[in-house]
Amino acid sequence: MRFFVDTADVEAIAELNELGMADGVTTNPSLILKSGRDILEVTKEICSIVAGPVSAEVVAVEADDMIAEGRKLAKIADNIAVKVPLTWAGLKACKVLTGEGNMVNVTLCFSANQALLAAKAGATFISPFIGRLDDINMDGMDLIADIRQIYDNYGFDTQILAASIRSANHMSQAALIGADVATAPPNVIKAMANHPLTDKGLDGFLKDWAKTGQKIL
Ligand code: E4P
Repeated sequence: MRFFVDTADVEAIAELNELGMADGVTTNPSLILKSGRDILEVTKEICSIVAGPVSAEVVAVEADDMIAEGRKLAKIADNIAVKVPLTWAGLKACKVLTGEGNMVNVTLCFSANQALLAAKAGATFISPFIGRLDDINMDGMDLIADIRQIYDNYGFDTQILAASIRSANHMSQAALIGADVATAPPNVIKAMANHPLTDKGLDGFLKDWAKTGQKIL
């Protein structure tokens, strides 16, 4: 499973990229706001750090305007994936933009039917939002499993990009189901390294090592 980093924080992206943990990046208007930076400038910088797809989201609601914004965003760098919302207009924009050779990430997906439509419209990525479904007492992971089955039934090439990931458990569950990619905030990716038995074991080893009075360096 590839990891995308769900942030517009360039320092956090660079740190994860050095470790091989950033196969791509996803941004959205809220993350651009949080960065406090200009969308074109920060997206260009992110594209120069990571080699993989960097999602940059349109903010228009009509198809023609989305297409115009998508074309402008796609010019930032070769690794831009234009992000469009899963509306009828977004599907129209997806079809046109992928037809022009761009990667397109169809975002804000909350149902298997929406994912089916995105695949038919030629989406490169479909982004089902796990955490936001969990927030309303639905099971976001069930949606990932349903989309996996539907795409496999018909051999759709659209990649499942598990999004709105809020915990390390979401990452392992998405990997077990077979999501192609998961996008998560840097703190969630780092939290995957944590285990209380690792901390306890290390503490014990270090205490015993101190008793030996030895040094390695
Ligand atoms: C994905 O592309 C979105 O930017 C993101 O995963 C949304 O996550 P949130 O529901 O935690 O805001």
